[in-house]
Amino acid sequence: MEETIKKHVSLAKSVLVKNRSSGYTIPSSSLYPHQWNWDSGFISIGYSHFDTGWAVRELESLFKAQWANGMLPQIVFNKSSLGSYFPEPDFWNTEVSPHAPEGYLTSGITMPPIHAFAALSVFENSRDKEKVKPFFVWLYPRLLKLHRYLYTERNPDGNGLICIRHPWESGMDNSPSWDRVLRTIEISSEKLPAYRRKDTESGVSHDMRPSNEYYDYFVFLIELFKKSRYDEKEIMKECPFLICGPLFNAILCASNEALMQISDILKEPYREIEQWYQLTAKSVQDTLYSHEHGIFDAYDMRTKRLLKVETASGFMPLFGGTATPRQASRIYEYLDSKSFCALHQGNCFTIPSYDTQKEDFKRENYWRGPVWININWMLMHGLRRYGFIQKADALAHHILELPIRFGFYEYYDSVDGRGYGSKDFSWTAALFIDTAYGTYLKKGADGGSGIAKRILFRNIVLNSTEESSGIEGTTISQKMLGAIREIKARYYTSRGTVDYASIKTSDEYREYKKITASLRDFDLSLLQSRNEKLAFWINLYNTIVVDGIIASGVQDSVRESARFFTKMKYRIGKYHFSPDDIEHGILRANRRKHYRPWSQFGPLNPKKKFSLTEPDPRIHFALVCGSRSCAPIKYYTPDGIDEELHMAAQNFINSSEVMIIPEENRILISQIFQWYRDDFGGRRGILDFIKKYILNDDKRKFLDESGNKLKIGYLFYDWSLNK
Ligand code: GLC
Repeated sequence: MEETIKKHVSLAKSVLVKNRSSGYTIPSSSLYPHQWNWDSGFISIGYSHFDTGWAVRELESLFKAQWANGMLPQIVFNKSSLGSYFPEPDFWNTEVSPHAPEGYLTSGITMPPIHAFAALSVFENSRDKEKVKPFFVWLYPRLLKLHRYLYTERNPDGNGLICIRHPWESGMDNSPSWDRVLRTIEISSEKLPAYRRKDTESGVSHDMRPSNEYYDYFVFLIELFKKSRYDEKEIMKECPFLICGPLFNAILCASNEALMQISDILKEPYREIEQWYQLTAKSVQDTLYSHEHGIFDAYDMRTKRLLKVETASGFMPLFGGTATPRQASRIYEYLDSKSFCALHQGNCFTIPSYDTQKEDFKRENYWRGPVWININWMLMHGLRRYGFIQKADALAHHILELPIRFGFYEYYDSVDGRGYGSKDFSWTAALFIDTAYGTYLKKGADGGSGIAKRILFRNIVLNSTEESSGIEGTTISQKMLGAIREIKARYYTSRGTVDYASIKTSDEYREYKKITASLRDFDLSLLQSRNEKLAFWINLYNTIVVDGIIASGVQDSVRESARFFTKMKYRIGKYHFSPDDIEHGILRANRRKHYRPWSQFGPLNPKKKFSLTEPDPRIHFALVCGSRSCAPIKYYTPDGIDEELHMAAQNFINSSEVMIIPEENRILISQIFQWYRDDFGGRRGILDFIKKYILNDDKRKFLDESGNKLKIGYLFYDWSLNK
């Protein structure tokens, strides 16, 4: 396990501990001394990995201040820290509402409802689920009440698109999305009470915070709410700012899904929640998608038009699972472009909050350009659920890299990574912890010691019995991969689970098995050129691993199955080949597996004649070993193999498996480099290889300049199933 990451996980934990107040964790001591709504959701997810008690407390204290109509307030004020924030309870005056909670001081607006999603994570990550159950039972009706409030009071068209009535409700306070609507509001001094902002008095420069003009709008809207006594019907009639955005609605969908799962755990019916989910998902697809720009957009309820402003929130339907596959691939193009700092565009951190190519993009101003960790984190989940694994991985990389290099800041300069706003910001720390646990610090990942289920060691010839489909010639590996894709499309769910039991009895799998049976009659001498051999064996490796996982019923890691890579076999002609035979014997030109003293094929092994003459180290990035740390599955072709291997290496080198920390003179790289050091030509060869493929000019320059001073650390290999 890499020390740098471990060290920063400890630092992140101490940020949360330091920010604890009475029963909850404040976002930061400098700017936000009270409890914030969605911050607490993210914070509880961070705690869930090391302190279930605090994870529970975080949500509990927030929901205790829920309004009688179900609204969950944006801020719950700490009575003993009043005086350093604006606006505080004396300004909100929420006591004019019959719904405001007794005994709690709160603001009069809400925020994106991440809480059911967070609560489910707390449950899933807790060691003793029975202990968390009473909290779940307490929280469940409150979550339902919150969602019901949104669907009754904030759903003006009844189509499941939930509207916000103040920019603070979006969580992205001064996003350029709101400019046009806010500027239609005429503000005169007599309409505004005197007020004094406090945020710019705490040392954060004006350039990094919302403008005074924006603050006037913020205040204007609060005045309107007070006049309406926080009555939603009245506000709906009067409020000029009524917007349904993709971020809020996507988070709601993710939480509806979580709420269904919570219902399931508690054995409660969830038909109503399912209907909510479907209604919102459909309206997000139909109404919030901009065909013109290939991204989701916010919708102005007053004019019934999209606002045509392209911000990071437009990608969030990936998180809620509400984009259609077509919409997802279209928005992915935009996301993976210069506008949002695709990796090959040099020094730029993914993903900025606003399109970097717009004239009013500002790299340092709050929600008008900088990178925010919570947005990256939700997007990372969204990309993963839609199968954009490499990009998800790149985002994970930045979620870890930014705080390691610059500290746990509130937001980061999207060009040079410098941290801005509050230092020691809680959700940055919390989501750093979650990402580190989700990637590098998984239980059992560095040794597999926690794995209980072991499948006995015995050879399993995966294509021995089925009747052959009679496919001949070299297209067989292409057919096999096509069939595996079908299986994946049907049985790998968006929440990352794989239904092995159903796969095993499915028609798709039966079809696949027939194709593999044809391998028994395959004539290996058909493979003549080096390129044909490379493509065939790489594809075969990738399919035998998936087949082996299905056949053995592996659930969480290929390590459950003792000697998986030796015992799974395909018969080809008169020989049996295991994944190890293919990798070390054939593709690596008969070298030894890293922990074994001998070469894969002994001197008399007839399979030696199939070995390639020279290893190509790029194969390590093309072989999919059924684990999270290896490359996503692809089809390799004899004609394009060189280019394809180039891409595979380039993708890997620019993913979270290679992390450069100039401040510590360090590079952290995947354990693959440690195991197969010789294939790369030792330390020097490894660094040259990385330099050759790394796309970021500054990073390459750093590697060039640091030479021998550079310290190499190895990121442990994540063996959990790549599902
Ligand atoms: C700012 C952010 C908001 C956050 C709050 C507390 O207002 O825009 O998203 O919840 O600070 O951290």
